[in-house]
Amino acid sequence: MFRLIIITSYLFVCISCMQEGSRVNMQQVAHGQEIYSRSCANCHGEDGKGLAKLIPPLLDADYLIAHQLELPCIIKNGMSGKITVNNYSYELKMPGNNKLSESEIAAVCNFVLFRYGKVNYSISVNDVSNQLKQCK
Ligand code: HEC
Repeated sequence: MFRLIIITSYLFVCISCMQEGSRVNMQQVAHGQEIYSRSCANCHGEDGKGLAKLIPPLLDADYLIAHQLELPCIIKNGMSGKITVNNYSYELKMPGNNKLSESEIAAVCNFVLFRYGKVNYSISVNDVSNQLKQCK
């Protein structure tokens, strides 16, 4: 009986990891992590916690979740002006990044949204192209 419980719980874990695999593209996430380390971590930190009261966090950031569809535009064009993230205000300028290709932007979005935003969906290069056409 005990064995049966163990076997069923193993099965459960396996099924849920397979389901997650189909929604989040882990290869993209790993590729995105490399880009993040090069292009974002010097400000937002390797752990996504930001820098004191100067650079906002990405980890569990309400702003990131509320603006997840604008993430490609934020990365490409940067942003400025006062914003509130998890009850603190920030107003330094984030420079745009025009060195990243659309597929690199997609990868870094997947990393940031999965790791720090904890979403369970993937964003495709096509989604990024469409969102970049609608930047404000
Ligand atoms: C030179 C420092 C710097 C770099 C590099 C940088 N950012 Fe930012 N980022 C900022 C600052 C400063 C703000 C706040 C801008 C404001 O107050 O309007 C910000 C805001 C943000 C926000 C919205 C606020 C939040 O915390 O949710 C996101 C999302 C974001 N950055 C993601 C990224 C990603 C992804 C990269 C790498 C592709 C990146 N940033 C690179 C400095 C930087």
